[in-house]
Amino acid sequence: MEDLLIAPSILSADFADLGKAVADIEASGADWVHLDVMDGRFVPNLTFGPKVVADLRPRTRLPLDVHLMTVEPDSLVDSFARAGPEYITFHIESVVHAHRLCERIRSLGARPGVSLVPSTPVSAISELLAFVDLVLVMTVNPGFGGQSLIPSCLRKVSDLARLREEGGFSYRISIDGGVNAQTYAACAASGADVFVMGSAFFSSPSPAGEVARARASRKGAGV
Ligand code: DX5
Ligand code: ZN
Repeated sequence: MEDLLIAPSILSADFADLGKAVADIEASGADWVHLDVMDGRFVPNLTFGPKVVADLRPRTRLPLDVHLMTVEPDSLVDSFARAGPEYITFHIESVVHAHRLCERIRSLGARPGVSLVPSTPVSAISELLAFVDLVLVMTVNPGFGGQSLIPSCLRKVSDLARLREEGGFSYRISIDGGVNAQTYAACAASGADVFVMGSAFFSSPSPAGEVARARASRKGAGV
C-alpha cells in the first residue's frame, strides 16, 4: 500500500509571499503543492495564472498539482504545461472533448487529472477512467477555502476506489475541500490517496504536525 499523500493548497497562504508558502509546504514534509487556478467564471473567485506556476516551479522539488477551476480548460493547458507541473486537472463540467484534452495534457508532458464538483456523479467520468492519472473529488463547492466537507461526496471516493480495482485502472484519488482534523478519519476511510489541505495546513500552528496527523489517519482507517 502506498502512503497517503498530502497536498497543501496555497489558496490559503499569503499571496504576497507565495515563495515562502511553497518553502513552508516543503519544510512540513508534505508531498505535493496544490495550485488552485480560478477564473471568476467557472467559480466566483479569481486566483492566478501560469506565470505564478512557472515562477514557483524552481522554488521547490515537490510535484506541482494544478487544479484548473476554469471554463474552456482546453485553451489554457498549453501555457500551464509550459510552467512544468506534474499534474494538470480540469473539471469534467467545463469540457466536451475530455478524452482529447487528457491526451493533449499528456502530450505536453504533464499527467492528466479530472475533477467533479459535488453535484456531478462518478458516472460522468466512467469513460475517462482509463485515461487519467488523477481523479479529484471536490467535497465542497469549489471557489473558496475554509468550507465544510459535504459528507455525501465521500461515497464517490469509495465508488472510484472500487471502480479502479474492478477495472484495473491506476489513477490516484484526491479529495479536496474541508479536509481537516475533524474529517481526516472519514476521508481516509473512504479510500482517498491524496488529501488536499488549504486552511487546515496554513492555519495550523504546526504544519509539520498537521501533515503527520493527516497521514496517520490512513493507518487508523486500516485502508
Ligand atoms: C476549493 C479549492 C481547494 C481549497 C481547499 O475551491 O479547490 O483546493 O484550497 O481549501 P480547504 O482545505 O480550506 O477546504
Ligand atoms: Zn483544489
